[in-house]
Amino acid sequence: MLIMGLFVTATALAQTIDYREKAKKLVSQMTLEEKASLCSGETAWSTQGIARLGIPSIFMTDGPHGLRKAEGFDFTNSVPATCFPTASALASSWNPALAQKMGEALGIESQANDVQILLGPGVNMKRSPLGGRNFEYFSEDPILAGNIATAFIKGVQSQGVGTSMKHFAANNQEFERMTNSSNVDERTLNEIYFPAFEMAVKEAQPWTVMCSYNKLNGVYASENKYLLNDVLKEKWGFKGFVVSDWGAVNDRPLGVNAGLNLEMPSNGGFNNQKIVEAVKNGTLAEARLNEIVIETLAITLKAKDSHKKGITADKSKHNALARQVSGECIVLLKNDNEILPLASSTKKIAVIGAFAKTPRYQGAGSSQVKPTQIENAFDELQKLSKGVSLTFTPGYNSDGTTTETMMSEAVLNAKNAETVLIFAGLPDIYESEGYDRQNMDMPDGHNKLIEAVAKTNKNTVVILMNGSAVSMPWKKDVSGIIEAHLGGQAGGGAVADVLTGKVNPSGKLSETFPVRLEDTPTAIDFPSKDGNANYGEGIFIGYRYYDKRKIEPNFPFGYGLSYTTFSYSDISTNTASAKDTDAVIISVKVKNTGKTAGKEVVQLYVHEQETEVTRPENELKHFEKISLNPGEEKTVSFHLTSRDFAYYNTALHEWVTKSGKFDIRVGASSRDLPLQQTIDIQSTKSAEIVFTRNTLLKVFKKSPKGAPIYEMLFKGITNGKKAVTEEDKKGEAFLDAMLGDMPISKFILMSGGKFTEEKLQAVLNSVNSN
Ligand code: BGC
Repeated sequence: MLIMGLFVTATALAQTIDYREKAKKLVSQMTLEEKASLCSGETAWSTQGIARLGIPSIFMTDGPHGLRKAEGFDFTNSVPATCFPTASALASSWNPALAQKMGEALGIESQANDVQILLGPGVNMKRSPLGGRNFEYFSEDPILAGNIATAFIKGVQSQGVGTSMKHFAANNQEFERMTNSSNVDERTLNEIYFPAFEMAVKEAQPWTVMCSYNKLNGVYASENKYLLNDVLKEKWGFKGFVVSDWGAVNDRPLGVNAGLNLEMPSNGGFNNQKIVEAVKNGTLAEARLNEIVIETLAITLKAKDSHKKGITADKSKHNALARQVSGECIVLLKNDNEILPLASSTKKIAVIGAFAKTPRYQGAGSSQVKPTQIENAFDELQKLSKGVSLTFTPGYNSDGTTTETMMSEAVLNAKNAETVLIFAGLPDIYESEGYDRQNMDMPDGHNKLIEAVAKTNKNTVVILMNGSAVSMPWKKDVSGIIEAHLGGQAGGGAVADVLTGKVNPSGKLSETFPVRLEDTPTAIDFPSKDGNANYGEGIFIGYRYYDKRKIEPNFPFGYGLSYTTFSYSDISTNTASAKDTDAVIISVKVKNTGKTAGKEVVQLYVHEQETEVTRPENELKHFEKISLNPGEEKTVSFHLTSRDFAYYNTALHEWVTKSGKFDIRVGASSRDLPLQQTIDIQSTKSAEIVFTRNTLLKVFKKSPKGAPIYEMLFKGITNGKKAVTEEDKKGEAFLDAMLGDMPISKFILMSGGKFTEEKLQAVLNSVNSN
């Protein structure tokens, strides 16, 4: 009780102290050298302290799905910690509340290990299925990624432990990641690559943000003022400090100027010296250095105060949570003739594939956790299926290759069984931090095994363990497919829960599963050439691309089946015509029409009917996961704001909502949206047009201010003659179409001296006034 009281006091204290003020005072007492020393770490994982001023050192460690508190850089030598499902799995739960719970558990494990900042979550977008770290990222959609990230950060930070949201920004490939330039236009950055970061900064204030290795439009992220200062700190109001990815610094003084607070790991002091020199030679203002150190120090002091002594993590409770989370992430992709859940009458099951006993459950690299235990699907299934004979054959080697003998053993096993469960996916070496995948294929050994077994026994279910989309040449030949992702240490148990029906699957794909690599938005140009990754597909990544190009994927974004069925009905709104400042509420009814309790992810997408700029067919804006008993019906309501209708306007550098009609589409996946409600939006702050000599005549014609000018010029050409005959009318329509794409200045050249430069200036002055 007394100890509990102390914890509460420590947290409450950390909440009330003004750490910025405290940091300011401390910085005013520091020498230039001391300030510079706080701009980099002391070791691989800890920050520099200053004993004479009582400034503490804090400890950071990876990572996103479990603690990797290591000695130095040795990945294999970390403390045992609960390995939760990786980010690609977690996002497929579409359950922010669960992500928050997982974050809380990670916070507790951090406290128990005296870790002040957990290096995660990773919120970069999946630009291509080939991205080597896709397993560490949430989604191809910024709204889904942003919501899961926000909840995760709130969870960790509720325990008095900071997070480091990474990798800011446009770090979407591993190939040449430390030198490559991600060349992305402003609208695409703001609509696709920024919003997950933006949402989490505004709603959860991560204590730190980690800048990425790559350059953004030619400037290293670690010294990119636009990114770190103008967007992150000034526009979004980020209150924490920016830490470099490990080794991401290029020019340290430039980084200080741009807004990079802390370089990690320790640089041995030589970059600190450069900062000192830069201040002395006047290329770096000391006031700027002060601000950077104050920001770092404010979080350092808060982090230290938030540390709770005497915490222990309950390993078995966390393992149970890991199993629960993993179960909610699993996506049922195919279930012909209700082959799943396994019927109680099924007594002979062939379990094929080495992953059934040695699961693939996390990815390689800095996020690799040493688990507290590992559950495998075979043993867990056996525990849940008393009296059922499970016969195992490995089918392939750990590198994914198979042999004639292994294949014939597997086929024989399948022949003698009522149902076959084949575990397959991607071996470790196929996806990792540090390099990208070469193609979307599973190993030949896995594909051939599935094909051979499916030929022998049509009651075949494939269970996939992988961190990113794979092609499925055998899709039509098998009866069931389960996407189990990299499900963490309890992933095997979660698979058993779903196979037996103990858990009704409720995950939905957080990324599109395309048929083939050639169908993907970046197929022509991924990862990069000559150090430049040109994001030519712009805003059209993931489902935005497949929808626009009308490409049928294997399984679309947001897709996932359940052991029950749901019906959608009665879409309604509080207002079918609204100002962009009004609250628009969309309500729908969802009913469980089957015989089993289950969860459904209700998804809301927005489609603009008439667009001025190219926009996606549908964009996810809201979602909610609900539980329904058989026969139960619930009303789900979504509150839309002007941002849900807006696009990013590059002339104004802001989000703009245009007046017009928007279709709100609601349903069970990006390709299954049975409900639609149209809303007529009137913009209260449409983009103010500044008319110039190059403004096109169609822009004059469309704007209330410009229309009279257009009419005047049009009449000037037709001499004010009224079109009477059909021929006249056709001529006018033709002229109107021709004029649209002509800038107004061309009239000077074409009016035979009637429309002069002076007249043009007078027209522009009048139309731009008030
Ligand atoms: C990774 C980061 C990680 C850091 C520390 C880097 O190589 O990109 O995600 O947090 O190492 O391990």
